[in-house]
Amino acid sequence: MITLNVDLDERSYPIFIGRDLLEHFISDSSLIAPYISGRQVVIVSNETIAPLYLDKSLKIFSNYQCKTVILPDGEIYKTYDGILPIIDCLMENQFDRRVTLVALGGGVIGDMTGFAAAIYRRGVNFIQIPTTLLAQVDSSVGGKTGVNHPLGKNMIGAFHQPQCVIADTNTLNTLDERQLSAGLAEVIKYALINSAEFFTWLSNNIDELNNRNPAALAYAIEFSCQDKADIVAADEKEQGQRALLNLGHTFGHAIETALGYGNCLHGEAVAIGMIMAADLSVRHGWIDEKIQQQIIELIKLAGLPTQIPTEFDVRISAADFIKLMAGDKKVLDGQLHLVLMEALGKSIITADFDVKKLEQTLNAFATD
Ligand code: NAD
Ligand code: GLY
Repeated sequence: MITLNVDLDERSYPIFIGRDLLEHFISDSSLIAPYISGRQVVIVSNETIAPLYLDKSLKIFSNYQCKTVILPDGEIYKTYDGILPIIDCLMENQFDRRVTLVALGGGVIGDMTGFAAAIYRRGVNFIQIPTTLLAQVDSSVGGKTGVNHPLGKNMIGAFHQPQCVIADTNTLNTLDERQLSAGLAEVIKYALINSAEFFTWLSNNIDELNNRNPAALAYAIEFSCQDKADIVAADEKEQGQRALLNLGHTFGHAIETALGYGNCLHGEAVAIGMIMAADLSVRHGWIDEKIQQQIIELIKLAGLPTQIPTEFDVRISAADFIKLMAGDKKVLDGQLHLVLMEALGKSIITADFDVKKLEQTLNAFATD
């Protein structure tokens, strides 16, 4: 088992990564005990994940008074109303401020459970047990929790850090290929933010990752979590550098919202968004076109789309992009900030881009 630490003073917490971690935690109850303050636990999962991992998870918490909430599966349920079954369960059972919520699932369950934990009785503890690659490398770490609004992704939420993250890499064996690829998009993101070396490693090991080679996956997860832990420790509430983690997200969130939540997966939209960020960087002469081609090649090899899908009923115009991007969380005093690239493995946050060039990028990728 690898243990990393997210260093946030009194809110610091460990990320445990490894194979058979659920079994490990079942066989030694002293492992979970430090992360639970009361006697009450609520495990939140969904109808797809619960049949696979709920029994094992219940065994980890067998010394506690434990309830479960099983939500429907899908990004479309990541709404304000969608978290009400969690709150209802907490209220009906009169769970107190020492209750611990456990998010057993991917980023959707993690974001919803974390948000419910942030608002129930003005904040109770929660634990993340991420079961998708995307959740293991990104969403379970860093304390961003929340739900979508019809007009914008993740617009209702709170920063609320978990007590610990338990990433059992065995759970990835039941993930379908499309979801594995979606997780790889966020892994590639870390390379493009700050490590050309990791980009080379990914290019050399993409087949192993696609084939779920445990050692390759463990390395990619460890690298990604360490990178995220460092960035979050330096800028927990995204006052500066944490925005780098949004590479590809301003374009990606607009794509997800426009196409309808759940149609283009978050990781897929981020992959297309990173290519758009590379395109705009090329138009400014900040990176060479060859670098953009290398990025496109790796994204393709990871099984991800490189263009906005057209199989849904919705088309996206440049004007749609501009409207949706105006609501982005990186708009400050009316000015849009974008994460763009200065080199392979070096991204920057900037408002200093040419609007005409942005329009050219949007027109090049628009489907309407
Ligand atoms: P997801 O949670 O929808 O999971 C993907 C699918 O895989 C679902 O159908 C789920 O039921 C299924 N699944 C999960 N684990 C499984 C397993 N082990 N075996 C088989 N099936 C399994 O999607 P995701 O990609 O994990 O997360 C995407 C969400 O995360 C988005 O809402 C995005 O906004 C959010 N996100 C949040 C952060 C953050 O910092 N909080 C970061 C990145 C993404
Ligand atoms: N996924 C972006 C962040 O956690 O900041």
